[in-house]
Amino acid sequence: MNDTTLITELRKVTGKVWDQAELAGRDPGFDQRNFGASALVRPADIAEVVALVGFCAAHGLSLVAQGGRTGLTGAASTVPGQIICDLGAMNRVEEIDPLARVAIVQAGTPLSTLQEAALAQGLDPGIDLAARGSCTIGGMVSTNAGGIMAFRNGTMRHRVLGLEAVLPDGSVFSDLTRVLKTSAGYDLKHLFIGAEGTLGIVTRVALRLDPVAGASATALVGVPAAASAQRIVRHFLGSTGASLRAAEILWHRFAIAMNRMLGFAPGQLPLDAPCLLVLELGADSIEGATSALEDGLAAIWEEAGIIDGLVASSQAQASTIWRLREETEMIERMHHLPPSFDVSVPGGDIDAYVARIEAGLKRIDASYAPYVFGHLADGNLHISINTDGPVSHALHEAIEDVLYADLRESGGSFSAEHGVGIEKRDAYERYADPVKQAMARAIKGVIDPSNMLNPGKVISSE
Ligand code: LAC
Ligand code: ZN
Repeated sequence: MNDTTLITELRKVTGKVWDQAELAGRDPGFDQRNFGASALVRPADIAEVVALVGFCAAHGLSLVAQGGRTGLTGAASTVPGQIICDLGAMNRVEEIDPLARVAIVQAGTPLSTLQEAALAQGLDPGIDLAARGSCTIGGMVSTNAGGIMAFRNGTMRHRVLGLEAVLPDGSVFSDLTRVLKTSAGYDLKHLFIGAEGTLGIVTRVALRLDPVAGASATALVGVPAAASAQRIVRHFLGSTGASLRAAEILWHRFAIAMNRMLGFAPGQLPLDAPCLLVLELGADSIEGATSALEDGLAAIWEEAGIIDGLVASSQAQASTIWRLREETEMIERMHHLPPSFDVSVPGGDIDAYVARIEAGLKRIDASYAPYVFGHLADGNLHISINTDGPVSHALHEAIEDVLYADLRESGGSFSAEHGVGIEKRDAYERYADPVKQAMARAIKGVIDPSNMLNPGKVISSE
């Protein structure tokens, strides 16, 4: 089928179709490769998704689901000949049940839309990340997103009560269970969580919501090491009256680079410490949250060896602190998409891990000085190398060997929350348990025998 016929035929499936020329004029999101496909189709409802899947199956076309296009591992990238199933028109919060604390959400709903709808009922999805304004619930399910509050509330996998997905044969997996407890056989919804659209196209999700504190306070705390930041976190986790909502860590090099790129005045934020900890506490009032933060820091100051601390005195100051932490895309752009990594480091090992990778990277190239930041309280670190753009395959593998050595044996992970996509696929083949890989291939073979959905992602096509 030539491209003109393809577009004509796709328009019979659904009204909203963009051809390659239209795609070329639009923002592809984080990854330039997202819009490589021959066409983008935007179904209005699940019936149109089913029809689109049927069309692709009948014509041997592969189909790639896309949400907010904020993914960092190329899981939504496409090539000519492929069709994009854009979930952006299925973007409604269908229901919020305030007593049961459950939301029923269409897959294309941005996280921030759900956060606002839930907040109107004093509730919160319990999961939050920097891309909140663009990333979608379906994409978050498909990558098992984690983010800032995972240390308290778990990752997406722990927030999903039920889901609905269209399978490659056009049937609909319908498990919109909205209760927490269900032990009725294999819990197959988990197959779709973290599958990056390779097993089905998620269309609707039932999510848990939690009551949310009415106010929050933010602090930036300078500490000598991650271990000291962990002591502070432990202290706040154990305190009553205010709840710890975030504990993000920035190593000095990252904080300084962000500060410079954001154009903050020198001295605007106290950054003179090996590690900076961003803390957010929730309480019933701003005064309550602020004094809980001040009192808690004072109580742990000496024991944790705190170097410096700033409790934000205004919303503007709090958002300045958060910008330092969250606008990380600036680093990626400044270094022209350098090698970037997303690891989970178990427990008490974080300082040793960072020291080890700094030394190991220097052995590869004396100029390597990584930017390190992340979600301290669950051990998820993000690491970008200060190269100018991507490096050769061999160098990339050498860097991975430094970063991923021992992670599996020690109970960590080479892919914490950004998924595998294509960027981490080689690492998956080299570092994931071989039996797990064999099971994954077997499951893919049963559910998607013609390899129609997002081929080549997570597991290789061969
Ligand atoms: C963050 C993204 C990179 O934590 O996961 O900002
Ligand atoms: Zn993150």
